[in-house]
Amino acid sequence: VMKVPRTPRHVFLILLASSVRAQVNPEMCRYPLGMAGGQIQDEDISASSQWSDSTAARFDNGDGDGAWCPDIMSEPGALKEYLQVDLRSLHFITLVGTQGRHADGMGNEFAQRYRIKYSRDGSNWVGWHDRRGGQVIEGNSNAYDVVLKDLEPPIIARFVRFMPVTDHSMIVCMRVELYGCEWLDGLMSYNIPDGHQMIHRGLDVYFNDSVYDGAIGLGQLTDGTWGLDDFLHSHIYSMWPGYDYVGWNNKSFPKGYVEMIFEFDHVRNFTSMKVHCNNMFSRGVSMFRQASCFFRSGSEWEADPVTFRPTSDRASQIARFVTVPLGDRTASAIKCRFHFADLWMLFSEVAFQSGSAVYNTSLTPRDDPTHKVDDSNTRILIGCLVAIIAILMTIIVIILWRQVWQKMLEKASRRMLDDELTARLAVQTQAFASHHSSLSSDAGSTSNSTYERIFPLCADYQEPSRLIRKLPEFTQFTEHLGRIKAQCHQCYGAPHYAEADIISLQETSDSNTYSIAAVHMNLFAGTDSSMREFPRDKLTFKEKLGEGQFGEVHLCEAEGMLDFLEEDLSVERNDELPLLVAVKTLREDANKNARNDFLKEIRIMSRLRDPNIVRLLAVCVDTDPLCMITEYMENGDLNQFLCSFCPLLFSYSKLIGMAAQIASGMRYLSFLNFVHRDLATRNCLVGKNYTIKIADFGMSRNLYRGDYYRIQGRAVLPIRWMSWESILLGKFTMASDVWAFGVTLWEILTLCEEQPYSQLSDEQVIENTGEFFRDQGKQVYLPRPHRCPERVYNDLMLSCWRRNAKQRPSFQEIHAQLVESMA
Ligand SMILES: *[C@@H]1O[C@H](CO)[C@@H](O)[C@H](O)[C@H]1NC(C)=O
Ligand SMILES: *[C@@H]1O[C@H](CO)[C@@H](O)[C@H](O)[C@H]1NC(C)=O
Ligand SMILES: *[C@@H]1O[C@H](CO)[C@@H](O)[C@H](O)[C@H]1NC(C)=O
Ligand SMILES: *[C@@H]1O[C@H](CO)[C@@H](O)[C@H](O)[C@H]1NC(C)=O
Repeated sequence: VMKVPRTPRHVFLILLASSVRAQVNPEMCRYPLGMAGGQIQDEDISASSQWSDSTAARFDNGDGDGAWCPDIMSEPGALKEYLQVDLRSLHFITLVGTQGRHADGMGNEFAQRYRIKYSRDGSNWVGWHDRRGGQVIEGNSNAYDVVLKDLEPPIIARFVRFMPVTDHSMIVCMRVELYGCEWLDGLMSYNIPDGHQMIHRGLDVYFNDSVYDGAIGLGQLTDGTWGLDDFLHSHIYSMWPGYDYVGWNNKSFPKGYVEMIFEFDHVRNFTSMKVHCNNMFSRGVSMFRQASCFFRSGSEWEADPVTFRPTSDRASQIARFVTVPLGDRTASAIKCRFHFADLWMLFSEVAFQSGSAVYNTSLTPRDDPTHKVDDSNTRILIGCLVAIIAILMTIIVIILWRQVWQKMLEKASRRMLDDELTARLAVQTQAFASHHSSLSSDAGSTSNSTYERIFPLCADYQEPSRLIRKLPEFTQFTEHLGRIKAQCHQCYGAPHYAEADIISLQETSDSNTYSIAAVHMNLFAGTDSSMREFPRDKLTFKEKLGEGQFGEVHLCEAEGMLDFLEEDLSVERNDELPLLVAVKTLREDANKNARNDFLKEIRIMSRLRDPNIVRLLAVCVDTDPLCMITEYMENGDLNQFLCSFCPLLFSYSKLIGMAAQIASGMRYLSFLNFVHRDLATRNCLVGKNYTIKIADFGMSRNLYRGDYYRIQGRAVLPIRWMSWESILLGKFTMASDVWAFGVTLWEILTLCEEQPYSQLSDEQVIENTGEFFRDQGKQVYLPRPHRCPERVYNDLMLSCWRRNAKQRPSFQEIHAQLVESMA
């Protein structure tokens, strides 16, 4: 019977150690390769020419003499002269050092700048350049000090040449050292298809092999830099997104695999190959599904490949090394076919293990040269300072730019509205007025009114844990809350601003095309349906849910409410308890305009009766303070609801079910010709059993301030939900509500993980709106959420964002389509 090891931690450490030993680690690989130490023999050091008879260009051993000094007096800057070091086998070189010649004060020769060339086979030479293409390395500034330079990217070579770059007819002398370790992979070159370019949310992501070092060369797959889990980010400062990876899209590979050929220095017995793969399946990237490797020792590929299928991992998006066992096959070349498992396959590193040699894992390199010359700390310090200065500069520039930009936008939109739209709006208003001949008496004053809305700023909205406590069906999750929270995404819109800055829509008549307060105009114009007065003394205060400038919202028990209503339509009966209701009150000292608006809102809401619209139950308006009593939705708003729970709780059909309810509520509003203007998950409330009802109280919630864009001194706008014509022309129609519905559907299917267009600033969103208007194919659409089937995305979501408002579907059609897609 096999004994199960009892110390898994131990096993883990061994595994970890062996995995480190399997490929080169640039952090450790910094040993001096033997110029100073003498492991490099004199016969392995050669030069194009020399001035004295010495090429033993080794670091100072006391007298400061014995450097290599080329005979370059004749042709300055010709770059013909070099000092060559043969390392006898392939090495991974991470660092070089140079020193001048002082000969105990007699000499003063050094190389201020130099370049490096290298070769793996002694015949093909490659000029080294850094990641940005720079070839010249800054060398010494005096004859004494050793100057070390990190090679980024590192070099894999057997032969290295130092080539001084000279300007005047200055005499140059060099002593050099190389740092690194032996390159046990033995790889001489690889040949892979060109990497592709991905467009991720309007961002260009380049997966080309940008440091590939020649026609038959090595590059990013062997540079010792392993990509991060999120391929958009890089270890290396200020490179483009996707820099660490070489990647391919399956579209260009009809056979379903990418073929790569690896050539080695000699015939080797291969035990394994390790491939570092990205696995961000949420963005269509996955590690390979299968690898088949063919071997060649002579001139022919052997017929029988080694095939390996890694266990696919759709649970963790961590980038990882996948080890492909190569079964001790003997070869000097390997050809592998990596099969796609998804749209994209991204590799950042490939390493080969052959024979019995392993990399030295002792944790202290013999003497890390950078520790002696404390160069790295200074660099870090300077780097930090530069970064801080850069950040400060950026902030200043952004602030200035925003101000200028906002002024421009304001001017532009004013001009546009004034010049182009006044006429149109006037026409609309006339038509509107004649259509609704029964405008009630105070309608005329609305355009000048101040409207401060008071909203149920339910405490639940801000504190998901309270929400969980209230939901018995979720109590089993409370104990796992920490874990769930770690697994779940973060809610995007939750900067908890402390200030109670309520958005004021105090607008004069000429600018209220942007005022959300004018939303209700058309509905308000209808006949007044009477709301019955509820006896105030039957309301029992339970809890304050929220507060606005002109009032408060309370959770109350309403005794006898069901009898009062004489009906039981959408309100669920709960026989033993008095009904819980939300009561919105207007402060007694509120001004006349606020009072009018409050009464107006009552009139609007009293006419809306639909299972998917929050319902006004009753009012108390005979004495102050005025109140309106609405249904209480115990699960808060949909945005918080979706993003506070583990994604596992929401199946696709549940999500589509919620979207269908919203579409149904909107369909009802569209029958009434009521334009909502602010449809978003934050304005939908969740009741029992995933019931969704549309509400309209989101605007002042500090929680969602980030979703609104404030035009200086004017209104705030939910621009990320608004159609292009609403933003540019101030036009709000059913079709612009359809646009917002598309965004809301997108939010639902992404579980509100991020704000729409989270990559874009507000200004960029407005720019993008301009692209919708120009319609030159440059507009950016929200990407397909991975839960969203292609069909729903193409047929439904994208159709909500059609440029021509008439071509967008109606809510009736949307509702039918959603119901159908659930079936
Ligand atoms: C890779 O792409 C970047 C970004 O466009 C470009 O600057 C670089 O020159 C490319 N490198 C190669 C080798 O094609
Ligand atoms: C590879 O392994 C075989 C047997 O295991 C051995 O005979 C052969 O010499 C090895 N070849 C090399 C290049 O190490
Ligand atoms: C690419 O991968 C996707 C996702 O796995 C798949 O749907 C598609 O058919 C593949 N395309 C090709 C050309 O293989
Ligand atoms: C590994 O490193 C240790 C400590 O620096 C050193 O003593 C040892 O000789 C090295 N081994 C090899 C094989 O280079």
